[in-house]
Amino acid sequence: MSDPRHIAIIMDGNGRWAEARGLPRVAGHKAGVETLRDIVRAAGDSGLDFLTLFAFSSENWSRPQSEVSELLGLLKLFIRRDLHKLHKSNVRVRIIGARADLAADIRALLYEAEALTAANTSLTLVIAFNYGARDELTRAMQALAQQVASGTLLPEAITPERIGAQLDTADIPDPDLIIRTSGEMRLSNFLLWQAAYSEFYFVSDYWPDFKPVQFFSAIEEYRKRVRRFGGLPEENIPEFSDKAEADIVPLRHSAG
Ligand code: IPE
Ligand code: IPE
Ligand code: MG
Repeated sequence: MSDPRHIAIIMDGNGRWAEARGLPRVAGHKAGVETLRDIVRAAGDSGLDFLTLFAFSSENWSRPQSEVSELLGLLKLFIRRDLHKLHKSNVRVRIIGARADLAADIRALLYEAEALTAANTSLTLVIAFNYGARDELTRAMQALAQQVASGTLLPEAITPERIGAQLDTADIPDPDLIIRTSGEMRLSNFLLWQAAYSEFYFVSDYWPDFKPVQFFSAIEEYRKRVRRFGGLPEENIPEFSDKAEADIVPLRHSAG
């Protein structure tokens, strides 16, 4: 099987990593940023086209306000410190998630990151920030409903392709492989539409302990997977022959 073009990662377990060491949860988030840097570098080295990282969900606002502001602070720090290095490495940055309700300074940083790197041609780093798939789908449906209401779109012209094009991930191929750390085996509202045929890879390590070697192991494992997309893997499709037909037809007669 060929290499994945797009890997998406649910970076989970920062808080438990810190708690296991008697540290405040924010220490886990800080350590998690170090892992993020290493994995972005590994992804670039591996020649991957798209890496999506789930950084903050639309449901993470329900955490204590102190943790939320620490997470927002870390995102700002990451963009301020790493943006130019990413740009020099020819990385293109894309942000998915609801932007309208974010603070103006964060919105400005996100636009700066995208604008500066828009023409880069190596890895596309997609950061899912204030992202929730149900929110993304809801915004897309509202936009399509607007077009129908204004008479510019016929209901029957709404196709899976048109829905996909209305999502934050328009122009980004579906993830081939989704990795989640920390032993949890759920999507937590991540890429619900886009993950329809993704392969999954779960590791029990908390995100701060996740290493590039495990990232490469995930790619190795992906290569062994057989993706069917509802059909049959090519080598299993039987040759259609008279013999096969002769085997099937008599069943109808002998049953009577
Ligand atoms: C992932 O780690 C980072 C974010 C969700 C922002 P968590 O903060 O969810 O850590 P755990 O799952 O509580 O250990
Ligand atoms: C998913 O992790 C979100 C991110 C990694 C940013 P959560 O820790 O928020 O997910 P649940 O609450 O365990 O499902
Ligand atoms: Mg978690």
